[in-house]
Amino acid sequence: MQMYQVETYEEMSTKAADIIASHMILKPDSTLGLATGSTPVGTYQSLIEKTNKGTIDFSQITSFNLDEYVGLPTQNDQSYRYFMDDNLFNHVNIAESNINFLNGMAEDIEAECKRYENRIREVGGIDLQLLGLGHNGHIAFNEPSDRFEAETFMVELTQRTIEANTRFFASEEEVPRKALTMGIGTIMAARNILIIVSGAEKAEAVREVIQGPITPQVPASILQLHPSVIFIGDASACSLL
Ligand code: F6R
Repeated sequence: MQMYQVETYEEMSTKAADIIASHMILKPDSTLGLATGSTPVGTYQSLIEKTNKGTIDFSQITSFNLDEYVGLPTQNDQSYRYFMDDNLFNHVNIAESNINFLNGMAEDIEAECKRYENRIREVGGIDLQLLGLGHNGHIAFNEPSDRFEAETFMVELTQRTIEANTRFFASEEEVPRKALTMGIGTIMAARNILIIVSGAEKAEAVREVIQGPITPQVPASILQLHPSVIFIGDASACSLL
C-alpha cells in the first residue's frame, strides 16, 4: 500500500484528484469506480475545476458507483445517483450512457446485482476505484461481518451506519435500511484502488485497516492484500498510526 499522509482535507482532495486525473490522461477511456459521501466531495470539486481548465476530459470515461440505497428513486435528493449528478456528473462532460449505477428500485434485486457484475466484466473491469472509509471500517456498504462478500449484493445497514447517514435525512426513520453494494470481491478486482480518509472520527478505523489483522470484521483491512492501493489520509485520520 502506498501511503500519503497530508495535513488537511483540501490537500487530500487535491492529491486524490491529481491521481485520478493522471489515470484519465494516461488512459482517456478509463473505467472509474466512484464513491459518494462527504469525503470525495472536495475531490470531485477539484476534478470539475480540472475539466473546466481543459486538463482532463470525461467524454470517453465510463463510471460505476459503489452502491445505492434500496427503495430510493434517482430523483430523491438522498439517492446516491442524485448525489453524483449534483457533485460531479452535471458539471463534467461524461456521457449519460457511460454512467453505471445500481438500481435500488429494481423488482428483481438478484438480477440487478448480476446485471451490474456482468456490466463491469463487459467493459473490461475497473481501472481505478475510489473509496471512502466508514467509521466501522466498511468500504462501499460492506459492513463488518463474518465473511467477505464476493460480488454485488443487497446488504442490511448496521445501526452505526444508519446513525452516521442520518445527517443527510430529516430523521433517522427516513434512512433506508437496505442498500445494494459492490462486494469485496468486486472492489478487489479493480486494477488500482485509491482510498481517501479524513477526520479524527475515522482514526481508529484507519489504524485497524492499515495495522490490524485482515478480517471481515474490518472490511477495508482486505486492502492490505491488493497489489495497487494508494491511501491518502489527513493528519487527524492518521493520528493513531
Ligand atoms: C459511499 C460509500 C461509503 C462511504 C463511507 C464514508 O459510496 O461507499 O462506504 O465511502 O461510508 O462516508 P463519508 O465519506 O460520508 O464519511
